Amino acid sequence: MDDGIVRHYSGDGDLADAISEALKRAGKDPASLTAADLASVDEFHIRGRKATLELASAMALTAGSQVLDIGSGLGGPARTLAESIGCHVTGIDLTPAFCAAAAALSRWVGLSDRVDFRVGDATALPFDAASFDAAMTVHVAMNIARKDRMYAEARRVLRPGGRFAVYDVLQGEGGAVNYPVPWARDPSISHLATPAQMEVLLADAGFKILAIEDSTEASQTWFQDMAARMSAQAPAVTFQAFLGNDFPAMGRNQVINLRERRIRTVSYICEA
Ligand SMILES: C[S@@+](CC[C@H](N)C(=O)[O-])C[C@H]1O[C@@H](n2cnc3c(N)ncnc32)[C@H](O)[C@@H]1O
Repeated sequence: MDDGIVRHYSGDGDLADAISEALKRAGKDPASLTAADLASVDEFHIRGRKATLELASAMALTAGSQVLDIGSGLGGPARTLAESIGCHVTGIDLTPAFCAAAAALSRWVGLSDRVDFRVGDATALPFDAASFDAAMTVHVAMNIARKDRMYAEARRVLRPGGRFAVYDVLQGEGGAVNYPVPWARDPSISHLATPAQMEVLLADAGFKILAIEDSTEASQTWFQDMAARMSAQAPAVTFQAFLGNDFPAMGRNQVINLRERRIRTVSYICEA
């Protein structure tokens, strides 16, 4: 396990408690929340819940699908799929504090029977071959140097013909990334692939790429809209709950990195 990554994401103390306290301070009752109420903290990626719903539709899921979410974080994407499609989602994540909070948040919104979360490493998945109908990974591979192993593992656990949706931050053509960013405070745990490398990595792992979508411009617009929304009314709880006081600087750097094309956001819909 990579301690640097776990330390980066863990925050101080009990994350579910911190989120619950922030919600109560904002006048929300954690006992009567919907998955959408948590989206400002548990969809930990650019373009939030909307991006997850796009992947859900591209994966051609049904209520009977068994789905794997690789690098599931606080479980927002898994719950969005479970709630909107009715499928079952297993999340796996390296950070124990995130897995514990993901289970608590799922209880609050009454989705515990359709999602479960396990601590584990994307490069050595603890599942049998062909165990899942579909898999996704959202903003995770930026922390993973051995992407060849990660995608080979995703291919192994998918049934033949199953869909694999990848949505990640990639290295852009505009130069080195400005740090801190939400996935790393410095380059030691940051490993961005370029768009050209991604196509080779996915093909080498045995995937057929069905569609590629570069959402960089939409990501810039999303940040502008979010700034406007936050100045009108700040959400009850944000990623600051675990990223701490570095969070505002991380957000500013994301805007600059996107504008200067130091990063790109791209999704790949693949078939095993
Ligand atoms: C930016 S968060 C995204 C979380 C979630 N996919 C989402 O979009 O809300 C990145 C996540 O990747 C996880 N992660 C990083 N390296 C990993 C690895 N080798 N195996 C499993 N999870 C990993 C981190 O613990 C963290 O939860």
